Amino acid sequence: MPGISRYGINHLKKHLDLPVKWGLKSVLLFGVTETLTKDEVATNANSKDNPVIKAIPKIKSWFPNLTIACDVCLCAYTLHGHCGILNSDGSIDNSASLKRIAEVALSYAQAGAHIVAPSDMMDGRIAAIKDILIKNKLENKVAVLSYAAKFASVFYGPFRDAAKSAPSFGDRKCYQLPAGSSGLAVRAADRDVEEGADMLMVKPGLAYLDILRQVKDAHPEYPLFVYQVSGEYAMIYHAAKAGAFDLQNSLNEILISMRRAGADVIITYFTPLILEWLETQK
Ligand code: PBG
Ligand code: ZN
Repeated sequence: MPGISRYGINHLKKHLDLPVKWGLKSVLLFGVTETLTKDEVATNANSKDNPVIKAIPKIKSWFPNLTIACDVCLCAYTLHGHCGILNSDGSIDNSASLKRIAEVALSYAQAGAHIVAPSDMMDGRIAAIKDILIKNKLENKVAVLSYAAKFASVFYGPFRDAAKSAPSFGDRKCYQLPAGSSGLAVRAADRDVEEGADMLMVKPGLAYLDILRQVKDAHPEYPLFVYQVSGEYAMIYHAAKAGAFDLQNSLNEILISMRRAGADVIITYFTPLILEWLETQK
């Protein structure tokens, strides 16, 4: 992903200093590992060596006012690169997956995350995470942001490459939503609300603005996030670079369309650049 980097813990502070100074309020952490072993049960998703678990306390000490959200998933730590635990025939073992995903969410919460954001799309994960947070008396300290309507999308390509989390076989269509299914998407959001989600997300953004509006209308009292994913970033970046349109103007139009469609919060890889623009235009 041009213009986007993975940072080691030792380099995090210097890369956060300026954005925080320019008004950054929140970060979403993703763990990437080049050196930790991967296995069938994603042991390193919440081992003591996990980069997210190591980074959280440091970020909190450097930037006490920054809200820290953590993506919760297994795919960056499983050998097969899928988001859950698999049966021997390659299908998802739902109960084993829920158990691990809840454990990982709990570990990030115990490390000090303010928000845990499960992105795996396994059935029942919000209830499992809420349950484990309640058992550990963290339910009033940590919010659950559900990737509620997450579609199986070609637009995740650059991310999987960067996060080394592409599935080694098959695809994610058994657990992520099919592009044509708006009813399923709204039902997924309904289900996550019933299971106790505190906030909802639609992902990707630009190709799913109708879903964003439907989820907002169905759950107006829930903060709604939209995730402008890696492929959307790449598309805009490269088109602007090739001279098709101006980067700042196109981004402005797209981000406004997301707000118009119902997004309360936009997650985007353009954030540092946007903050820099805002700062220099003051
Ligand atoms: C992990 C996860 C993915 C993204 C966020 N969390 C990849 C995937 O589901 O394949 C995609 C983010 C992006 O493309 O920017 N499950
Ligand atoms: Zn995943």
